[in-house]
Amino acid sequence: MALLIYTLIHDADEWAETLAAQLPGLDIRVYPNIGDPGDIDMALVWKPPVGFLAGFPNLKFVHSFGAGVDGILADPKYPRHVPMARVVDAGLANGMAEYVVLHVLRFHRQVQAMQFNQRNKTWKWLPPVDASERTIGIMGMGALGAVAAKRLTDFGFQVVGWSRRLKAIDGVASFHGEDQLEGFLRHCNVLVCLLPLTPETTGIISRRTMSLLPRGAYIINAGRGGHVVEADLLHALDNDYLSGATLDVFAEEPLPEDHPFWTHPKVTVTPHNAADSIPSLVVPQIVENICRHREGKPLLRVVDLTVGY
Ligand code: NAP
Ligand code: GLV
Repeated sequence: MALLIYTLIHDADEWAETLAAQLPGLDIRVYPNIGDPGDIDMALVWKPPVGFLAGFPNLKFVHSFGAGVDGILADPKYPRHVPMARVVDAGLANGMAEYVVLHVLRFHRQVQAMQFNQRNKTWKWLPPVDASERTIGIMGMGALGAVAAKRLTDFGFQVVGWSRRLKAIDGVASFHGEDQLEGFLRHCNVLVCLLPLTPETTGIISRRTMSLLPRGAYIINAGRGGHVVEADLLHALDNDYLSGATLDVFAEEPLPEDHPFWTHPKVTVTPHNAADSIPSLVVPQIVENICRHREGKPLLRVVDLTVGY
């Protein structure tokens, strides 16, 4: 029995070496050197092509390289009887919290305006706003959102979260479900998206939802590109309803060269780099699941395939 590795964006050999070092004797097949598909019982994957996983008749479990699994579940031929696990890692949550805090503070401390003024050699004092007067809203209060929310409270921001189910996090007001989305959005001077991409969350940042934000709000999207209706976001930025956006994820990645986000004065683009799975940190939990699979124990960090995260 063998573990298959499929990814076009990670260094597959580095992951294979790190896995081999922790589980000597593990038969690892790095795509495209698969050998007999019948040998494969486990797969570590990122965005496999449609129908790819269905081609392994003895597949028993799939592990995502990352926290998100939308790139695997996008395959309508995914064998639904095969359980899937994902990454839940303190290092990933820490990296995402750094990204969120960095871009919230850039907005809060008016860094973009100051950089613009510097380029024009303009000495212009900008009136400060106390952190307690800003509300930061986080959509998605899971493994990543909860840590980012907590860090933001340390700066004195008001923090509100929105999730499917009610949360109890010290210093963070919890909104949940479709019915409370509007009430949540009306508070947010900064809206941070850390949702998984599912049929329910696709296109959730749209003209309608953005119109519920206070005028001058800022958007940070590090969830998935599919959360944002890009034309609606451009419209809201160009009409000065929103003051800016930091975007790490896009409908099409890499972001096409002619995409207006690249040069938009109110948009900061980062290359899907907000929080990355680091092999030395993440491999131990994959090894743990491989061992559990071999011992016939239930997997950990399992995805609920019925809701898509
Ligand atoms: P998670 O632990 O599964 O948390 C997901 C959160 O979203 C939960 O709080 C969940 O609510 C909420 N949610 C899901 N569907 C919802 C809906 N329809 N309405 C309201 N709330 C909903 O996921 P995570 O580990 O925090 O990761 C979140 C996402 O971040 C990933 O799926 C991935 O897309 C993205 N990500 C991006 C990067 C990057 O570098 N840009 C890196 C890692 C991850 P409940 O708590 O009530 O279930
Ligand atoms: C990265 O985008 C992840 O889902 O881990």
